[in-house]
Amino acid sequence: MSIHKDVKKVTTHVLQNMKDNGEKISMLTGYDYSMASIIDSAGIDVILIGDSASNVMAGHETTLPITLNEMIYHASSVVRAVDRALCVVDMPFGSYQGNSKEALSNAIRIMKESGGHAVKMEGGEEIIESINRILSAGIPVMGHLGLTPQSIYKFGTYVVRANEEEEAQRLVADAKLLEASGCFAIVLEKIPAKLASEVAKAVKIPIIGIGAGNGVDGQVLVVHDMLGINNEFNPRFLRKYANLHEDMTNAFHRYIDDVKSGDFPNEKEQY
Ligand code: KIV
Repeated sequence: MSIHKDVKKVTTHVLQNMKDNGEKISMLTGYDYSMASIIDSAGIDVILIGDSASNVMAGHETTLPITLNEMIYHASSVVRAVDRALCVVDMPFGSYQGNSKEALSNAIRIMKESGGHAVKMEGGEEIIESINRILSAGIPVMGHLGLTPQSIYKFGTYVVRANEEEEAQRLVADAKLLEASGCFAIVLEKIPAKLASEVAKAVKIPIIGIGAGNGVDGQVLVVHDMLGINNEFNPRFLRKYANLHEDMTNAFHRYIDDVKSGDFPNEKEQY
């Protein structure tokens, strides 16, 4: 039996049932009303209002500049479009890493002002106080370990994380800590497939991978990447399901040509 086909509204409990029944979880990012509406109608399980909006929507080099207000704007646009998917909102850089009381009030703002269903936070032990405080307010938290882009200036590079034994052991310990705290799922980004699969076996909560192989409980991609909108981003883990860069460029060329030649609008396209 497919949970995916029967469920009218995806909750954190539905995701746990999917893992328990061996059904993979599908997740994509979304940032605006129109795209989220299409993604949700297609039957995705989770829409992540990712802070990758900083890159793909705002054109920043990293995810660091996006603000809490901007995340709330994107999340509320997505939530208005969605009937079925669970909407998870990234807490932006600087909104939870310091004072855990501030972290809680920022998470509450996200939930109240966007209508999102859960928040996602990058990190393990170092942010556990904030995670615990947010969980204790009844806000579901998705963890994020491995390559955590908000720490890019610490890593210095976007290469695969946890290749070394010490970092791999720390990652497993962090995943167990997030599970014990009550996080409902964890994203693992860009780590060796074998390690990701070990983590998915070591914890009971769903593990969603991006560049983490097939031995996990679900997959997430940035929607602009999988649609091929940016043709310069081609990491090994990315499968492109469309070439919208080409399709859109062709459409824009045709429109420009039609305007310049006077072909558009024709008689049927005017009043
Ligand atoms: O912001 C984002 O898009 C993410 C995914 C890469 C998991 O965190």
